[in-house]
Amino acid sequence: MTSKIALITGANKGIGYETARQLGSQDMTVLVGARDIERGREAEQALRDDGADARFVHLDVTDAKSIQQAAEWIEAEYGRLDVLVNNAGTASVARRGYPPSQTSLEDMRAVYEINVFGVVAVTNAMLPLLRRAPAARIVNVSSEVGSITAQSDPAHPLRQMPASVQYPSSKAALNMITAMYAKELRDTPVKVNAANPGFTATDFNDHRGFRPAAEGAEPSVYLATLPDDGPTGIHWGYIWTAGGTGGYGVIPW
Ligand SMILES: NC(=O)c1ccc[n+]([C@@H]2O[C@H](COP(=O)([O-])OP(=O)(O)OC[C@H]3O[C@@H](n4cnc5c(N)ncnc54)[C@H](OP(=O)(O)O)[C@@H]3O)[C@@H](O)[C@H]2O)c1
Repeated sequence: MTSKIALITGANKGIGYETARQLGSQDMTVLVGARDIERGREAEQALRDDGADARFVHLDVTDAKSIQQAAEWIEAEYGRLDVLVNNAGTASVARRGYPPSQTSLEDMRAVYEINVFGVVAVTNAMLPLLRRAPAARIVNVSSEVGSITAQSDPAHPLRQMPASVQYPSSKAALNMITAMYAKELRDTPVKVNAANPGFTATDFNDHRGFRPAAEGAEPSVYLATLPDDGPTGIHWGYIWTAGGTGGYGVIPW
């Protein structure tokens, strides 16, 4: 068997790009999923310049045809997939924040198309390839903002952030999706976990995050490279504490 094959969705920038860079530095072949051909090819070239075996794959997670073509291409090129990182995501397609009472269903549906339905569509298309790998890993890039426990804790730092509904609820749904795939696959070598990058400086939040993208990618990389006795069906990553000390661990659902 040659090196492991990892597909990362939304890998042309931000946390996804860094995840591809770090997995590539561990000698994995990294398939750079991107919905925009130009941005995807630029990322592929930058990763190759950095020494990674990177290949661009055109993949819009909201487009069934693009997902099917990506799966067919991976099957033809590699015959299997060792790692799937469902990283593509958005907070708001409308690019504005508003409280739950003013949320447009149009924006809510658009966010769910990417963060929720896109993950199910890509995972189901890739599962036959993941099952062919000796010990596949699926990582769903979630967020602590999708933790109902954290959001309802008056002492949690998330309390300072304004209430919104489309993004936190999409990540709460993604957490349950993670738990249910882990349940279905519990008697197989495939592990399915959710990653929490922590508040990371990317285009996603106009670079207001306090963690660099390289650190935001660490939870995805950790879960993508779990050993055979590692966990499945958990949400793991950066824990935002009131004292600001942070650290890594299991995020409560
Ligand atoms: N940044 C944070 O603080 C933070 C915290 C917790 C969780 N997260 C999660 O981390 C993940 C990555 O976020 P980021 O901060 O790196 O954001 P980002 O810099 O905005 O990157 C998002 C990526 O998703 C891609 N994408 C969006 N819609 C897509 C679609 N329909 N098909 C394929 N790709 C699509 C974007 O592609 P384009 O370039 O074409 O738009 C881009 O590559 C997301 O799931 C996000 O929810 C981020």
